[in-house]
Amino acid sequence: MENVKTLGEFIIDKQQDFPGSSGEFSKLLSAIRLASKIVSNQVNKAGLLSHIVGAAGSDNIQGEAQQKLDVYANNQFIKALTARKVVCGIASEENDEFIPVDNDGSYIVAMDPLDGSSNIDVNVSIGTIFSVYKRLSPVGTPVTEADFLQKGTAQLAAGYVIYGSSTMLVYTTGNGVNGFTFDPGIGVFVLSHPNMSFPSRGKIYSMNEGNFYRSSKGVQEYIRYAQTIDEATNRPYTGRYIGSLVADFHRNIIKGGIYMYPATDAAPNGKLRLMYECNPLAFLAEQAGGKASDGIKRIMEIIPTELHQRAPYFVGNTDMVDTLEAFIASKG
Ligand code: AHG
Ligand code: MN
Ligand code: MN
Repeated sequence: MENVKTLGEFIIDKQQDFPGSSGEFSKLLSAIRLASKIVSNQVNKAGLLSHIVGAAGSDNIQGEAQQKLDVYANNQFIKALTARKVVCGIASEENDEFIPVDNDGSYIVAMDPLDGSSNIDVNVSIGTIFSVYKRLSPVGTPVTEADFLQKGTAQLAAGYVIYGSSTMLVYTTGNGVNGFTFDPGIGVFVLSHPNMSFPSRGKIYSMNEGNFYRSSKGVQEYIRYAQTIDEATNRPYTGRYIGSLVADFHRNIIKGGIYMYPATDAAPNGKLRLMYECNPLAFLAEQAGGKASDGIKRIMEIIPTELHQRAPYFVGNTDMVDTLEAFIASKG
């Protein structure tokens, strides 16, 4: 194992990027690293564990059936983030209200603890998404909802964990995107994908095309465009849709592509959640030379008015998102 850089070492090296934080921010990332390992370990043997597979018998605030692994992952991340005393509050897709943690903490975390729930029981890649902000209210006071309702541009860090053919943790602190692969033999994440960026040309489009006729004319036209044969522009594109946003995004950042979850007539604001899914991956996308849009404007400029707010979502190679926006601008 020559020249191996572990995530732990990387976090310490980068601590100088946050001179004011006296290591607090590093502790936060370490908490995420620990919870990821615990969840990864359970995911890898999920088929053997009856307390991990299947429905939990409860719904989240969106009325979606919670899976046992949703609840398990949520608890593990909350536990790890609470133990380090640097976080003042956590907002999770799985909790109706934000969770106040420690009045003396400086940071707030928004997370989707388990992304791709429908893929848990069928052994397909799933993930965790997280987003970190500095609180707005003074340290030492109780965290407030306003601390959470910040624009995506205010994110200090964002990332995801993908539990796939291997487990990877990919994150940014606004200074590029780095990916670490978990080596279960030694129990550490190792820097495997330094300075990740979208390839200059994308060729993949990812959408649940069952929603085609429920989408706007502009989105329909873009799908037709993606399917049209035109060698000069590398079309037709390749259709790939896993149904776990993290996995679709991860593939597209490596191979080049666009992920789309548009507004539909059944879900006028789209399905994905601004704070837990759209903003963190938008931050990563922009840091990797890509773009994230709601079809009209930059995702990270949206001012959230509620924790569980949704947004139509288009993320990936900049040129592909630009073209999609042009179709929406002309066709709606
Ligand atoms: P979650 O499992 O956190 O609820 O997220 C599921 C999301 C996203 O990961 C995925 O891309 C999308 O929902 C799939 O939705 P459809 O089944 O409607 O395609
Ligand atoms: Mn999700
Ligand atoms: Mn989820």
